[in-house]
Amino acid sequence: MADKPKAAAKPAPAYAADRAKPVTVATLLDMKRKGLKIAMLTAYDFPTARIAEEAGVDVILVGDSVAMTKLGYESTLPVTMDEMLHHVKAVKRGLSRALLVADMPYLSYELDAKEAARHAGRFLKEGGAHAVKLEGGLDVAPIVKELVKVNVPVFGHVGLTPQAVHRLGGYRVQGRRPEDAERIATEARVLEGAGCCAIVLECVPAELAREITRRVQIPTIGIGAGPHCDGQVLVSDDMLGLTEGGPTKFVKRYADLRGQAVKAFSDYCREVRDGQFPGPEHSFTSPA
Ligand code: KIV
Repeated sequence: MADKPKAAAKPAPAYAADRAKPVTVATLLDMKRKGLKIAMLTAYDFPTARIAEEAGVDVILVGDSVAMTKLGYESTLPVTMDEMLHHVKAVKRGLSRALLVADMPYLSYELDAKEAARHAGRFLKEGGAHAVKLEGGLDVAPIVKELVKVNVPVFGHVGLTPQAVHRLGGYRVQGRRPEDAERIATEARVLEGAGCCAIVLECVPAELAREITRRVQIPTIGIGAGPHCDGQVLVSDDMLGLTEGGPTKFVKRYADLRGQAVKAFSDYCREVRDGQFPGPEHSFTSPA
């Protein structure tokens, strides 16, 4: 018996389909107002940026997660400004439409607002980024103000802030107790007041993310924060199945690229060892 025809896919919302217009911070605000979800992913290199562009990703974050996904560090703490800038420049060369956000690495912004502005400025001036992201609540609000003063759009980041992993005692859900939830909601409002153009909410209960999303006028971008945020972000290596080990609860694996790569590499090794590769179709011959 013939398969029943599948229901036609829902048409993509206008912004996702509009590949011609570059995404700006104003676009993101407009998307929140219109209830259009923002699709954000991390990228760390030129080919991934090209793929993300082709797929229509709205916002690309060169996350300090590059420390763990690409540089083999155990946490995000060791990555430096120069290392981040190297990846931001590579991603920039691959983008045409997506908004490019550069993550401020640990200790590049917390100690001194002027130094923070100089570092953020390097991401815009040398890296071609459109915005920066920094982690933290009330303590970083004056720094956000300083960056906005020199026209740097800033994404805030509250909830689980991986740069504070040692103080938090691990990568765990934040804001489960009512007093913690209230503190995180206050942090989000203060960051909005300081001038942030969007806020990442990481690993917080879905109800808290919904409440924050309702209370602030700027877009919220969730990761492990449930479905009510204005947008979502995932680490591309996690969702592509490139990272070792099982995914955390909030990650959906859309592919198994690591499994495919291991198979491709071992097939190659076997074929080299038993003389199957290169065959005649991959060899040049001299003219007769
Ligand atoms: O560094 C990163 O990839 C991030 C995302 C998890 C939001 O900050």
